[in-house]
Amino acid sequence: PKVTFVTVGGTPRTIDATVGDSVMVTAVRNGVRGIVGECGGNSSCATCHVYVDEDFLPLVGPANDLEDDMLDLAVSDRRPTSRLSCQITVTEALDGLTVELPDEQP
Ligand code: FES
Repeated sequence: PKVTFVTVGGTPRTIDATVGDSVMVTAVRNGVRGIVGECGGNSSCATCHVYVDEDFLPLVGPANDLEDDMLDLAVSDRRPTSRLSCQITVTEALDGLTVELPDEQP
């Protein structure tokens, strides 16, 4: 499945992701700038904050409780489409997923 990362004012970058990987791991492994993943995917750093494309939001679903708390602490503004990318698992159904990166990630 393909996942596209869009930086603020930047060029979109599409990556062939592996099913079962998180969106955060997909980004880090491919050197996508703007996703740090400092805590390794434990919902405890919020440096993997992304804005999910609205068309995909119903498929991706809402943040879980722990994630929800962390998103309040994220450096960049929280939006209704905010998710921690370490909590989004790549599936075939998410093929074409597009996420926007915040302009600032600690
Ligand atoms: Fe730390 Fe996602 S990698 S919260």
